[in-house]
Amino acid sequence: MALGIFDSGIGGLTVFKSIATRFPKLDMIYFGDTARVPYGNKSPETIVRYTLECTKHLVDNYKIDALVLACNTASSHALKTLHDEFHIPVLGVIDAGVKNAVDVSSNRKVAVIATHATIKSKSYNKVFQLMNADIDIVSLPCPLFVPLVEEALIDGDMVETIVRETLKPIKNIGIDTIILGCTHYPVLKSVIAKVIPNVNIVDSTTYIVTDVLDLNINLEESGVRKILITDESHAFNSLKNILVGDIDVEVIKL
Ligand code: DGL
Repeated sequence: MALGIFDSGIGGLTVFKSIATRFPKLDMIYFGDTARVPYGNKSPETIVRYTLECTKHLVDNYKIDALVLACNTASSHALKTLHDEFHIPVLGVIDAGVKNAVDVSSNRKVAVIATHATIKSKSYNKVFQLMNADIDIVSLPCPLFVPLVEEALIDGDMVETIVRETLKPIKNIGIDTIILGCTHYPVLKSVIAKVIPNVNIVDSTTYIVTDVLDLNINLEESGVRKILITDESHAFNSLKNILVGDIDVEVIKL
């Protein structure tokens, strides 16, 4: 049995990497919907439909015993549908990001940067509330960050200008922590840190490994790793090699 990991594109590989590094013998299969990325500018109905189609393919065709939605946009909108649909545990990434922020923020002023769809869903606000975390939250959509990462544009002057302009509204407003509320954004972390220095920059990848431990799945298998994508992407391979190394990529048709 394997752990299934789903994202709209390449960003979920940041989560894949953190789980794969912590559990080297865990069998893992990744699904990136590269034909339809980005999800973050789509309606809740479309996000649920796309997520369900892709994860159903994973559940129906591969022996997976749990699924991680390594996509904040899908976690914000489709988690409940997937819980109802599948008989295996399904884990989202929002809780892990919130736990990380609660741990590191001292002045309790936190910015959440994410896709339009994640921000609109208020999923982060809801989890902060559920955890009774007394934190001021500022939310900012960053719609250009996912296309940059999908094109493997992760540094240089143009990227820095886009990141600087996008993050202007949360600069100098007294936050001490930024949550990267999209699994693509850790790839841009060094640019974000340059543009807004002296803040904690957190994401879901630290705490997701604890959540995986709680799934009680077999972590000691053969360490088989596989990646499926729904369309060719010229940038996918180069970024995949940087993030997770030499893992076979198969293009599939849904
Ligand atoms: N990695 C997805 C997320 O965490 C990207 C969303 C998108 O496809 O726009 O939200």
